[in-house]
Amino acid sequence: MAFPYPFSAVARDARPSPIRELFKVIGRPDMISLAGGLPDPTAFPVDPLMECTEVLREDAGTALQYGATEGFGPLVEWIAERVAERTGARVEPANVLVTTGSQQVMDLLARTLLDPGDVVIVEAPTYPGALHTFRNVGARFAAVPCDEHGMQVEALDAVIQGVRHDTGSLPKLVYTIVNFSNPSGACLAEVRRRRLIELAASSGIPVLEDDPYGDLRYVGEPLRPLYGREGAAGVVHAGSFSKILAPGVRLAWAVGDAELIRGMAILKQGVDLCTSTLDQVLVAEYCRRGHLDRHLERMRDHYRVKRDAMAEALAHYLGGSPANWHDPDGGFFFWLDLGEDAGPVFDRALVERVAFLPGRVFFPAAEETVGESLPGDRFARLCFTFASPAEIETGCGRLARALSGGGRGGSV
Ligand SMILES: Cc1ncc(COP(=O)(O)O)c(C=O)c1O
Repeated sequence: MAFPYPFSAVARDARPSPIRELFKVIGRPDMISLAGGLPDPTAFPVDPLMECTEVLREDAGTALQYGATEGFGPLVEWIAERVAERTGARVEPANVLVTTGSQQVMDLLARTLLDPGDVVIVEAPTYPGALHTFRNVGARFAAVPCDEHGMQVEALDAVIQGVRHDTGSLPKLVYTIVNFSNPSGACLAEVRRRRLIELAASSGIPVLEDDPYGDLRYVGEPLRPLYGREGAAGVVHAGSFSKILAPGVRLAWAVGDAELIRGMAILKQGVDLCTSTLDQVLVAEYCRRGHLDRHLERMRDHYRVKRDAMAEALAHYLGGSPANWHDPDGGFFFWLDLGEDAGPVFDRALVERVAFLPGRVFFPAAEETVGESLPGDRFARLCFTFASPAEIETGCGRLARALSGGGRGGSV
């Protein structure tokens, strides 16, 4: 029987995550999945985590108790030190909020800064989970195109002015994935980082710098984050343990202006009281013992091999096709312009037993976009961290068959 009472306006308009819907189709056992953005489960650091569970015996009174909304003290301090080291900024505990995944950073920041109808500037393409969260508070979007060097910041001023012209107000937030973006794999170039800070500061628009992949660089030197630069007082930096340790711990952080962090913490009190203390105590101990840095060293080597496997397989199988792409220097993803509509290619790929994510889900829809909306139909996201190198090789071969018309007429 249908639930007989009305939903809220936001809940009525909410659509299920298109990615989660796709997973229902691609879960066949003989399918090679390059679709999900998942870490390699065979590389989870089970033994060191098991050792760290000793802290539960030593201090169950903390680990199993409610904790401060802001986060477990030793973890807050570890985050503050780490972000200070990476950004050169002075980071105090009051600048840090531990969250239940970085998805919650977006949620709390959106609730703190946005009212229904406000416009968020996003990259096109961008992370669909962020679009979902911003939609939940009734936001609309303005899209800035991206290339292999990240957001085309040269176009940003015109987009800001366009929003002001069309809505009478400035955008309320810029959302950017600076390092090895999901989905484009692109890293925001240094000159664009500087220009982004200048423009955001001069227009008075805060910036969410979402950086779950920054520690997973396989080639070249890291670029300085936005947070902590001169003029970056409006930047909130989000980091996460999901890609560098395990998404199951659901631990992440926001670092930003103390007043803003306080505002987010107050809202968090009404969302989940505090992030799981057990997870925080365990992960704080894991970091304290120096395991994370050792794990990261191993993971960079591990994923570099997979990235190289995909780079080679794509060059080999798709080299002569109309598809084109740039090899990413880090992160989880290759982003391909297939040169044709990815929808039918996706259907044929399933028949060939390989799954990828069609690009459209990474772009805001036209009806929720202020100004020009960019089409994502020709793109495909391929994740290289989950599958083995051999599966990556076979999967790219299957994708090439789907692209050249294979898999027609079969059933999925
Ligand atoms: C760019 C980006 N931000 C945030 C998230 C959410 O991560 P978390 O597990 O920390 O909530 C993801 C997950 O894929 C992501 O790709």
